[in-house]
Amino acid sequence: MNQVEKRNQLITEWILEAGEKIKDSFKETIQVEQKTNRNDLVTEMDKKTEKQLTENIQQYFPGERIFAEESNNKDIQDLSGIVWIIDPIDGTLNFVKQQNDFAIMVAVYEDGIGQMSYIYDVMKGELYTAIKDKGVSCNGQPIEKAQDIALENGLVAISSPLLSGDNDAVRKIGRKSNGVRMVGSAGLETVYASTGRIVAYIAASLAPWDIAAGKLIAEELGLVYTQHNGRKVDLLQKNPVIVATPTAHETIVEMLTQKV
Ligand code: IPD
Ligand code: CA
Ligand code: CA
Repeated sequence: MNQVEKRNQLITEWILEAGEKIKDSFKETIQVEQKTNRNDLVTEMDKKTEKQLTENIQQYFPGERIFAEESNNKDIQDLSGIVWIIDPIDGTLNFVKQQNDFAIMVAVYEDGIGQMSYIYDVMKGELYTAIKDKGVSCNGQPIEKAQDIALENGLVAISSPLLSGDNDAVRKIGRKSNGVRMVGSAGLETVYASTGRIVAYIAASLAPWDIAAGKLIAEELGLVYTQHNGRKVDLLQKNPVIVATPTAHETIVEMLTQKV
C-alpha cells in the first residue's frame, strides 16, 4: 500500500467514526453556543469532532500543520508544506435545527494545492473522496465528470446571506437558471454541483475550511471554483465564491461583474 492509500484508509476510518459519534449525540442534549451572531453557532460536537480529528492527525502525522475552524490557527500564516484543513461540522445550523444536511470536511493540502479531500454527508452515509489527478468516489464508487450544462438548463444553489441581500445580479442569476435551491452547507452544495444535481453554487463569504475539501472535489470533476470576479480563491482568508460548470461559470462571472 502506498502513502496515499495508507492516508486514505486512516482518514476514511476517522471520518466514519466521527460520523457515528455525531449521530449518537442526537440521543443526548447538545450544548450550543453563539459565535459571532445568533446564526453562527458552535456545538460541543463541532469541538469534540475537531479535537478527535486533530489528535488522530497528531498521532499518525506529527509535525504536520492543522488549520481548523474551531482552533486558533495562530501558526497558519502561509500554506507551505502539508496543511490539514478541517471543518468538523459544515452546516452547524442544519445540525442543530434539522439534524440533517451537514457534513464533516477534511482536506490535505501541500504547498497550497489540494492532494486529498473528504466530504461526509453524515445522515445519508455518503463519503465523497477526492485524490488529486485520480478523480472522486462516493463510498468507493467512482463518480463521472460533470456535464458542462449551461445556467439556463440547471438549478443553482445560492447561499442564504447572498440571496437575501440586495445584490440584483444574484437574483438575476436565479431567474436565468431553472430555479434556486438552498441547502445551508457549503460542502454539500459543492458536492451537488460536482455531481450534476445543480449547475452552480454561489456564496458571499466562505472561509478556507468551507472551501478546501470541496474545491478539490469540484476541480477533479471538471468544475471551476473561483471568486466572484473569476480570480482564484485565497485559502488564507474569506472569499466570495462560485463553483460551477465551465459554461455556467462564465455566465455567472459576467453577470456578477455586471458586464451583462
Ligand atoms: C457555514 C455553511 C453555510 C455557509 C456559511 C458557512 P458552518 O458553515 O457552510 O452554508 O453559508 O458561510 O460558514 O458555520 O456551518 O461550518
Ligand atoms: Ca463551514
Ligand atoms: Ca463548521
